[in-house]
Amino acid sequence: DTGSDTEEGDSKEASEKLVIGFSQVGAESEWRTANTTSMQDAITDAGHELKFSDAQQKQENQIKAIRSFIAQKVDAIVFSPVVETGFETVLQEAKDAKIPVFLSDRAVDIEDDSLWVTFLGSDFIEEGKKAGNWLVEEMEGEGEVNIVELQGTVGSAPAIDRKEGFEQIISEYPNFEITKSQTGDFTRAKGKEVMEAFLKSDGDNIDVLYAHNDDMAIGAIQAIEEYGLKPAEDIVIIGVDAVKGAFEAMAAGKMNVTIECNPLFGPQMVEIIEQYLAGEEVPKRIAVEESMYTMDQAEELLPTRQY
Ligand code: AHR
Repeated sequence: DTGSDTEEGDSKEASEKLVIGFSQVGAESEWRTANTTSMQDAITDAGHELKFSDAQQKQENQIKAIRSFIAQKVDAIVFSPVVETGFETVLQEAKDAKIPVFLSDRAVDIEDDSLWVTFLGSDFIEEGKKAGNWLVEEMEGEGEVNIVELQGTVGSAPAIDRKEGFEQIISEYPNFEITKSQTGDFTRAKGKEVMEAFLKSDGDNIDVLYAHNDDMAIGAIQAIEEYGLKPAEDIVIIGVDAVKGAFEAMAAGKMNVTIECNPLFGPQMVEIIEQYLAGEEVPKRIAVEESMYTMDQAEELLPTRQY
């Protein structure tokens, strides 16, 4: 049990300086860089020592990073998994070394939930549902609606869940159909490239783009313009994250809606780690509260956006 450290009296004083290892996914999106900064600042501002590792979207790099944190005997590991599966062995090693693991942003698909303390992050299924509900309200009664989907990183929690949540909603409406769906790996460059291919094969038949993040939507908007169509008019554009870039695109009339996914939970994570190491109980799942923003709100809200 990961709690046994603290039960055995090895608990840390609230003011004690901790060494925290943070294994981050990469720097694939605006969202991710905001999340990295939030976490790094929160850890160092609280007076703790940070060991940071960027996995460049590769699971093998994360496994190596976690092993190195274990070897360095850090007090806690914050871990944002690139994909959901395949981390049992390394997390077991952390548990054996009595180093608690805190899941940040993305969950793992592992049966033994004693391998991690808590999961702090968004509800990605809910985000997919919000996207679906917005679309259905917007376009119900418009006949056939052909949707192309830009998925996130294959095997990642947000790609799996945003697809599932969206499909749960639109499957109730036979006139809404996903005609093409491919990964854009959460990046602008890939989003653009895949959208170009969608347009080439099906250009006149695309009514909606559902992108699993704003960066891919922004890349795709560029592809749509280069193809000679008007984003947000000829093709409805839905993104996820609510990053500044999406607000700029919406204010320019090129994007219709973004579903918020808030990356600024560094301070909350640090608080949870401190509480746990001080012997307090922490909930197994802590969800980040989120909203949704449309084109007509963009200009007013853009100056106040924090990420
Ligand atoms: O896990 C969160 C997702 O990862 C964000 O929505 C996306 O932009 C990022 O790359």
